[in-house]
Amino acid sequence: MEKRGTFGSKLAIVLTTAGSAVGLGNIWRFPFMTGQNGGAAFILIYLGCVFLLGIPGMISEFIVGRHSQSNAARAYGNLGYKNGRLIGYLGILTSTIILGFYAVVAGWCLQYLYASIAGHLNGDTTYIVEYFKSFSSDPIRPCLWGVGFVVITHFVVAQGVEKGIERASKLLMPLLMIILIILVIASCLLPGAGKGIDFLLKPDFSKVSGSVFLEALGQAFFSLSLGTACLCTYASYFKKETNLLKSATQIALLDSGIAIMAGLMIFPAAFSVGVQPDSGPSLIFITLPNVFRQAFESMPIVGFIISILFYALLVFAALTSTISMHEIGTAFFHEELHWARSKAAWILTIVCATITIFCSLSVGAYSNLQLFGMPLMDFCDFLTAQIMLPAGAFFTSILLGWFVEQRLLINEFTNNGALKATFFKAYLFSVKFIVPLCILLIFLHQFNLI
Ligand code: PFF
Repeated sequence: MEKRGTFGSKLAIVLTTAGSAVGLGNIWRFPFMTGQNGGAAFILIYLGCVFLLGIPGMISEFIVGRHSQSNAARAYGNLGYKNGRLIGYLGILTSTIILGFYAVVAGWCLQYLYASIAGHLNGDTTYIVEYFKSFSSDPIRPCLWGVGFVVITHFVVAQGVEKGIERASKLLMPLLMIILIILVIASCLLPGAGKGIDFLLKPDFSKVSGSVFLEALGQAFFSLSLGTACLCTYASYFKKETNLLKSATQIALLDSGIAIMAGLMIFPAAFSVGVQPDSGPSLIFITLPNVFRQAFESMPIVGFIISILFYALLVFAALTSTISMHEIGTAFFHEELHWARSKAAWILTIVCATITIFCSLSVGAYSNLQLFGMPLMDFCDFLTAQIMLPAGAFFTSILLGWFVEQRLLINEFTNNGALKATFFKAYLFSVKFIVPLCILLIFLHQFNLI
């Protein structure tokens, strides 16, 4: 039997797993959600969700993956309950669909990186709006960029755990952090940037309602890659000595820190030219190119470099996330169906690329590609983020909190007694009661039942 890969060091574990967590969710979705939901007030609630619910949820997936050191379906099936396997299947399906539509936006980022380098984004507001419209409604170009992104992801994953995933994360994550720091400094130095910083740091509780809590919770789960079996798959490559609580806390801190820095990059720049950064998808493709142009009007070369760095940042962040989504299904096909890793990866790439093409067309040239009254892309987003992902996290909590033998949990939590069990009781309480209850609340709210 072929030897299974593991991540080489503690740093590799944090960088690869944080690479999965840090993505478009942090750099694009978090800032505009903060913009729409009361600035710092939203951030405080978001951080509450990350620490109270996100970290216990992450530890649960880590326990499942590291315990059996196998793909998600087998890992969930190995906990003493055969039906647990179903949660693994759900995760594999969820991550495959997410990869399909996530690659559409990632492909747009790649095209905008190319356009920035080629100098195609120079023009006034009308030009930038038209540029986005003509690109996104083209039947071929967005599909090609999206599929291209899935294929790039494929080549990293097909290389294997150490040579592909670990190496890419070790290169891309530090680059991402350096670019982010440069952009935060450039943005905060702009005249009038203080208003954006104030918005981000001074809470306005008047905008906080029940739905803001639920939005924050959904965002926290998506951002931490929870509920998709991704963390479970990555944890299957952790070492027996890895401290699960410490790793979950480090990754959550890094993920939240990067999201807040993304806010510090976007808000000061946007406020300095008088733009409200609360638009949805158009934020990164229409609002920000305009912001860069106006903010650096007197120094076009700086604007040019900033624009390239910004889209490179998005591409790197998206790539480390798509790699993790791809690995979930690849590991499953490889280990369960005994296909060679490269064949397993190709099958998954073909499935995902097909979803990418249909999703891309549904928000572009063929807007009649709809399901339940939504463009296919929005439907996939809704189905995964609002239903499948919370369902995965919910069933994981119920399985671990109520069914799996506590001995197994404590052994994994403490590395078979090598670490202190100080926080174990708090973890168990959260997994038994708090996490499932909060997810249930999101569900009921989603369907207007509360
Ligand atoms: N956490 C990623 C982000 O914030 O963009 C998205 C993600 C990655 C979701 C991996 C699900 C997943 F399995």
